[in-house]
Amino acid sequence: MTDSKRITLAWTGASGAPYGLRLLESLLAADYTVYLLISSAARVVLATEHQLQLPANPEAAQKLLVDHFQCDAQQLVVCGKEDWFSPVASGSAAPKRMVVCPCSAGSVASIAHGMSDNLIERAADVVIKEKGQLVLVVRETPFSAIHLENMLTLAKRGVTIMPAAPGFYHQPTSIEDLVDFMVARVLDHLGIEQGLVPRWGYDQRS
Ligand SMILES: Cc1cc2nc3c(=O)[nH]c(=O)nc-3n(C[C@H](O)[C@H](O)[C@H](O)COP(=O)(O)O)c2cc1C
Repeated sequence: MTDSKRITLAWTGASGAPYGLRLLESLLAADYTVYLLISSAARVVLATEHQLQLPANPEAAQKLLVDHFQCDAQQLVVCGKEDWFSPVASGSAAPKRMVVCPCSAGSVASIAHGMSDNLIERAADVVIKEKGQLVLVVRETPFSAIHLENMLTLAKRGVTIMPAAPGFYHQPTSIEDLVDFMVARVLDHLGIEQGLVPRWGYDQRS
């Protein structure tokens, strides 16, 4: 398996579970092997916004998601919060790309300060130290000065801060259109081919 077909995806407890689900679906459809990390708060948000009750046990969550997305069981690896032996925990084995989507203000703070206190924070820390690509789809409003300073700290270290702020110029007619706008922008940044929304200047709706 080449590294170009492996990626780490973390879901944290910010509003925006549909973004995380759609991104996972798109990565699996693009034949990626996804290491999925799910915070406890993310499970609460998922249950609130999507009625998806994910078990806390990583193996059980993995089975449920493999069934949900009908993907190859090898393609999705759900890692536990303290699974320090997971490939994502070490620079010698971790995928070079990671997305936190949705990303809470709390996780932004922990990542900005290198806390590495759970596997999401550690995996992000590894991607930063290995000079890989880290994308944070941050969701909070308004942003406080603390949030903004933490995001600036990360942006100065090469992290892509991509607020969950869909545009309207593709003339969305559904929530799914808005979700796809954000997911498409993330995939574009990762360099992964996507056909979720028309590309500006090519396939405009009239
Ligand atoms: C339904 C729900 C929605 C939330 N929405 C947000 C949000 O949009 N942004 C945010 O920063 N925190 C939000 N929170 C609070 C975070 O979940 C909380 O700060 C949590 O400690 C984040 O932990 P995590 O980053 O480890 O997932 C929300 C919590 C719940 C239950």
